[in-house]
Amino acid sequence: MYYPEEIVEEVRAKNDIVDVVSGYVKLQKKGGNYWACCPFHGEKTPSFSVSGSKQMYHCFGCGVSGNVYTFVMKYENYTFPEAVRLLAERAGVRLPEVEYSEEQKARANRRARLLEVNKEAAKFFYFQLRSPHGTVGYQYLQKRELADETMHRFGLGYAGKNGAELVQYLRSKGFEDDLIKEAGLANFSERHGLVSQFWNRVMYPIQDANNRVIGFGGRVMGDGEPKYLNSPETPVFDKRRNLYGLNFARTARSGNIILCEGYMDVIAMHQAGFTQAVASLGTAFTPEQANLLKRYTDNVLLAYDSDGAGVKAALRGIGILREAGLTGKVINMKPYKDPDEFMKALGKEAFQERINQAENSFFFEIRILEGQYDMNDPESKTKFHREIAKKLCEFSEDLERDNYLQAVAEKYFIGIENLRRLVATYAAQTGLAKPVERPKSGVRQKNKPEENAKKSQRLLITWITDEPSLYEKIKKYITVDDFTEELYRKVAERLFADMDAGNFNPAGIISTFEDAEEQHEAAELFNTSLPELGTKQEREKAFHDILLAVKKNSYEYFSARLGSDVNALNQVIEGKKALEELAKLHISLD
Ligand code: GTP
Ligand code: MN
Repeated sequence: MYYPEEIVEEVRAKNDIVDVVSGYVKLQKKGGNYWACCPFHGEKTPSFSVSGSKQMYHCFGCGVSGNVYTFVMKYENYTFPEAVRLLAERAGVRLPEVEYSEEQKARANRRARLLEVNKEAAKFFYFQLRSPHGTVGYQYLQKRELADETMHRFGLGYAGKNGAELVQYLRSKGFEDDLIKEAGLANFSERHGLVSQFWNRVMYPIQDANNRVIGFGGRVMGDGEPKYLNSPETPVFDKRRNLYGLNFARTARSGNIILCEGYMDVIAMHQAGFTQAVASLGTAFTPEQANLLKRYTDNVLLAYDSDGAGVKAALRGIGILREAGLTGKVINMKPYKDPDEFMKALGKEAFQERINQAENSFFFEIRILEGQYDMNDPESKTKFHREIAKKLCEFSEDLERDNYLQAVAEKYFIGIENLRRLVATYAAQTGLAKPVERPKSGVRQKNKPEENAKKSQRLLITWITDEPSLYEKIKKYITVDDFTEELYRKVAERLFADMDAGNFNPAGIISTFEDAEEQHEAAELFNTSLPELGTKQEREKAFHDILLAVKKNSYEYFSARLGSDVNALNQVIEGKKALEELAKLHISLD
């Protein structure tokens, strides 16, 4: 951990979450909690609640939750140590100086130097564009209908025809040749020495979410190959984990993010007022980028090219968004090729209309599928309906699947009962919601059995923290190892130890994790939506079911590891006994 745990906890305890959050959004007291419109997604009626007793926030609309640290991290887009520093200062806590190892120092220095040299290069390009040399570039951008203000906002520049100038300039600012090379700004050639990588191109600096220049895209003016030349990957330029325009889009608070294909699309969209537009960096949209977007929104609108390649890319994008648990919709750009052209031809009101009419990604997929079949040929049509049934199997939740089933049946004039039978047939063959194989994607998958097991574990933790008296009633049957998810186990370990000691503190547990994603996941554990049940009996049954599900999962988990895990046998024996006892046990909820 970056700062000692005691300090982290002291700083947290000295920053009352209600105080801190009310510095950012207007809170209103209602019942035991405080409420506001959620600052993390667009809404008109408040569903964002802050609990003084739990020292946590939770949005019932978009599901975000956390403690005072995660709030500051999310709102300010800070790293954990940055949030600690801000809150320490606010509460007047002195932080210890952090000791770095030599290697850490060297690496941090190198990254800092790379960012500096990029920033200096961006300045150089920026001034070139506005100098007499840069007239060609400036005129090119003007011809593409960019206002001066837009060029300024995106820091657009120009790399001149003399490839030595940039290098000379950077050297004069004290940057070493190997740094300039490592930043991907110049290449070494036997004949000319170090020369600029970018030559006679308009330059688009690529910034990360914190406005730091991490790389460049350079476009030829007019036709020429390659159309775009991008910086290579460097220690500060990770193309999979950044998005063009996110530095602006992250504060757009428009309730959605629009994903485009190109830099120029993003710029044109922002110029028209759609500052929530972003694009991937010259490569296909990645799961890492989907996770990044997830911090800011649940709704992603795809504004991809309307040609064949664009449709293919959109289909891929939809899959990635879905795996990340994001809702995807597709904006129809026709008859224009891309958002840039659309905006020029029809303007922003027309585009807003297209946003409002954006097509649900499932129907988009079905419509594209339809194009491959001949609806006048019964055999081809049947095949199409079979494909629909297969796609419906991808929904794990019964209700959602059935809603889509009804809608799609109506739209394509398929008998509902026929389609339902067909889905049942495929489900029996292949199982429902067979997860897409995508190892190491880093995206949490929604529909796996593991996901159901995790959900029961989350529900149990939330329920116990909401009604701590339950802990005494169940501690005999549940152990820390029943939480088969590594992070959940760590949380349970702390929580149960705290509960045994008689003082539990969910907000404190969250900040024992350093990584923002982990903190987010830990926070989720305390804020899962519990089933809304009327009678005491129903609630008792639900709680009992959750308990059983957790225990059963852990039993199966360890049974599968009997050969490889020495601890497993104990767990299995103990688990079997607990399961038998639990089956007979009545736990009262009062
Ligand atoms: P304009 O053609 O100027 O309107 O740019 P655009 O952003 O609309 O480009 P386009 O739709 O053709 O391509 C989308 C994105 O793919 C671009 O923004 C680049 O990131 C990337 N790209 C396009 N062409 C090339 C290329 O030749 N090389 C590389 N590395 N990336 C490219
Ligand atoms: Mn374009």
